[in-house]
Amino acid sequence: MSPNQQGLKGFHRLSVEERLQRISEITGLESEDLVCLKEFGNLQSETANGMVENVIGVMGIPLGVATNLILDGQEMLVPMATEESSVIAAVCNAAKQCRSSGGVFSSVSGTEMIAQIQLLGLPHPHQARQILLEKKDQIGKICDAIDPLLLENGGGFRDLEVRILETRGGTMVIAHLVVDTRDAMGANAVNSMAEGLAPEIENWTGGRVNLRILSNLADRRLARARAVWKLEDIGGEKVRDDMLAASWFAEADPYRAATHNKGIMNGVSAVALATGNDTRALEAGAHAYAARSGQYSSLSRWECDQNGNLVGMLEMPMAVGLIGGATKVHPMAKISLKILKTQKAEKLAQVMAAVGLVQNFSALKALATTGIQKGHMALHSKNIAMMVGAMGDEVDQLAQRLVELGKIRSDFAEEELTKLRAGKN
Ligand code: MEV
Repeated sequence: MSPNQQGLKGFHRLSVEERLQRISEITGLESEDLVCLKEFGNLQSETANGMVENVIGVMGIPLGVATNLILDGQEMLVPMATEESSVIAAVCNAAKQCRSSGGVFSSVSGTEMIAQIQLLGLPHPHQARQILLEKKDQIGKICDAIDPLLLENGGGFRDLEVRILETRGGTMVIAHLVVDTRDAMGANAVNSMAEGLAPEIENWTGGRVNLRILSNLADRRLARARAVWKLEDIGGEKVRDDMLAASWFAEADPYRAATHNKGIMNGVSAVALATGNDTRALEAGAHAYAARSGQYSSLSRWECDQNGNLVGMLEMPMAVGLIGGATKVHPMAKISLKILKTQKAEKLAQVMAAVGLVQNFSALKALATTGIQKGHMALHSKNIAMMVGAMGDEVDQLAQRLVELGKIRSDFAEEELTKLRAGKN
């Protein structure tokens, strides 16, 4: 039965309470489920309801703080929101191991975003391209008039690129508006410009505008991080060489690169979520950038320095902002930014690149030495303990017991919890 047949017509117009009632009637949620759904915690129901459609609750994700990171000479505390148990610990460990060489160093390429305008129906695409390029100053003025606030904040239109694209459906002309969005992620700003400009572009070229939307391949907004891990801090040459071999594997093989980059995004997305940024935009940009040569590869590069130390480098698009969307609305995002002591999107991008790099170090080191499961499962043991019903102190006790036994599985956990409660171990 479709939702409307189930009597959900106008569902979006109901209050949160009424929606909850309807869903509960239809799905038979238990009273304890309703109690849980009604706990909105630090995101008030009015705020949540204003953020997305059809709200019936909020989904809590742990927020932790990564310690030990020195970034460009400054001690940082980094808020990270993630459900994956090993992610924050991995940042703390890796950041600690590069402190003796000064921590992580970073840079950015700028804060420019690209909006794409797709033009169809142009039998003479080269003429259309030239005409548009001749209008660059006028286009810049129209764009800036659409977002005067951006202009006031030092941003605005910067450049125009026009590409001729051969596709399965014929030749297209693609205009790129390059816009400096400063401390905003910029999606709304550049989308408005692309939409506002479209009628003029049609007039000038005689073509028909189809899509007008930003590109998540934010390759004019790159963040970079670099750190040196001294041989003595990582356990010697064998560890270094095996980590290097692991990184070359990821450079050469898309199957491995996907997982390698997923590890990097474990860190990047956790900071994005904690600060109310768009994790999907970042993920899309990262993977598109990783495939820019035509072959999907790793986002990081690893080398030795002249003293044989291990050097890690990461460069990736980092379209993040501080002045819009959930960043300004979600109370936890606002608190996260206070913990970061960051008022600049560029700085946030640098922190995120640093976190991605150290996350990558941790994964490579674990994989090239003990394997990932030892540390991962030790942390996961707490989840297992909670899953089988351990409460309060029992969680740590049971988790430790499972690690000692080397059996981090729910069936053992159930047995061990029963024994623990019976005072048998
Ligand atoms: C797990 O979430 C991330 C890793 O798989 C990353 C990697 O393999 O490099 C450990």
